[in-house]
Amino acid sequence: LAPLRVGVAGLGNVGATLVRILQKDGADLKRKLGRQLEVVAVAARSRSRDRGIDISGLQWFDDPVALAKSDGIDLFVELIGGEDGPAFAAVKAALEIGRPVVTANKALLAKHGVALAKLAEESGTQLGFEAAVAGGIPVIKTLREGLGSARIAKVFGIMNGTCNYILTRMGNEDISFADCLKDAQALGYAEADPTFDVEGFDTAHKLSILSTLCFGYEIAPEKIRVEGISRITQQDIRVAADLGYKIKLLGIAQRTEHGIEQRVHPTFVPRGSAIAGVDGVMNAVALETDHVHELLLAGPGAGGPPTASSVLSDMLDIARGTKVPPLGVPSAELMPYVEAPMRAH
Ligand code: HSE
Repeated sequence: LAPLRVGVAGLGNVGATLVRILQKDGADLKRKLGRQLEVVAVAARSRSRDRGIDISGLQWFDDPVALAKSDGIDLFVELIGGEDGPAFAAVKAALEIGRPVVTANKALLAKHGVALAKLAEESGTQLGFEAAVAGGIPVIKTLREGLGSARIAKVFGIMNGTCNYILTRMGNEDISFADCLKDAQALGYAEADPTFDVEGFDTAHKLSILSTLCFGYEIAPEKIRVEGISRITQQDIRVAADLGYKIKLLGIAQRTEHGIEQRVHPTFVPRGSAIAGVDGVMNAVALETDHVHELLLAGPGAGGPPTASSVLSDMLDIARGTKVPPLGVPSAELMPYVEAPMRAH
C-alpha cells in the first residue's frame, strides 16, 4: 500500500508529541500496518519556535485551510483548538473534498460535531475524534463499537485532567488552587485559556459529545448546567473528607422520564468508590447500560502522549480502511431539557 501522507495543523503540546511519535516509531507502525504513516506537511502559528522536533523536511503552511485542501496529503489532523476560526474552516474544507480528518478538538465538536459528522458521511469520508474526550481512554471506540445495541441509561465521569489534578493535590498537600493551576499549565494539561478547565466548560464540551453518542440526539453544551471548581477551598475538601467523601468535578448525563438531564459540578463521591480512587491527571468515564450494569473506563485524561496516542489510534483506523459506524443522529432537533436540581449523582 502507498504511504498515507498526513498533514498536521497545530504544533502545540499534542501536535508536537504526535509528530515526535511518528518520526520515532514510524518503522514499527509500518510493520504493524503494512503501510507507512508519514507526516509530510504541517501548519502552525510560528515556524521557528523550538518544539524539540525536526520539521525542516516537512512542507510548511501558514494557513491551515490551505494545508487541509492540499493535494499533497491523504489525511488531515486538526490540533489547533477553538470552536470556530481556523480549526472549523480547515476541518470543513477537508471534509468537503472527501478527505478524512482526525481531531482532538472538543470545543469544535461540541458546537459543530453533528454537522461535521453529517458532512463526513455525505462526502463518504471519516471524522475521527477519539482524542477529544478523556485523553488516552478509548471511550469513543467503546461507545461506537464495544457496546453494540446496549441502551445507555447514564454516563458520568471525571473528564478534565486539570481539575482532577488540582482537586487531588489540594486534598493531599497544603497548596493553593492558584499554585496547582500554574503547575497543571506547566505540565501541559490545561487549555490555552484555563478558564475552560476550571469553570467546567471543557467538561461540558466533552459531556455533550458523549451525550450525543449515548443518547442519539444533538445535545448542545449551552443546555448543560455548569459549575466549576474555582471556588473550592481546602476547607471544603477537608469537610468532605471528614464526612467520608472526596470532591470530584463530574459531568453527568442520564435519561429521565422528562428527557436527558445533564450537569457538570463539583460532586461529593464516597471515599472507597471506584470513581473516588481516580486521582491526579486521570479521567474516568462510567457507563450504565441495560446489559452491562456499570462499566468504568479510567486512564490518563490529558497531556501530550495520551492524547497523541488517541489521535494515532484514529489515524491507524483510517490507514487500515476501517469504517466507523455513522453517528446515528436522527435530526438537529433537541431533546427536551430539564433543569437539574443540584444533588449527588
Ligand atoms: N485541558 C484538558 C484537561 C485537556 O485538562 O483535561 C484534555 O482534554
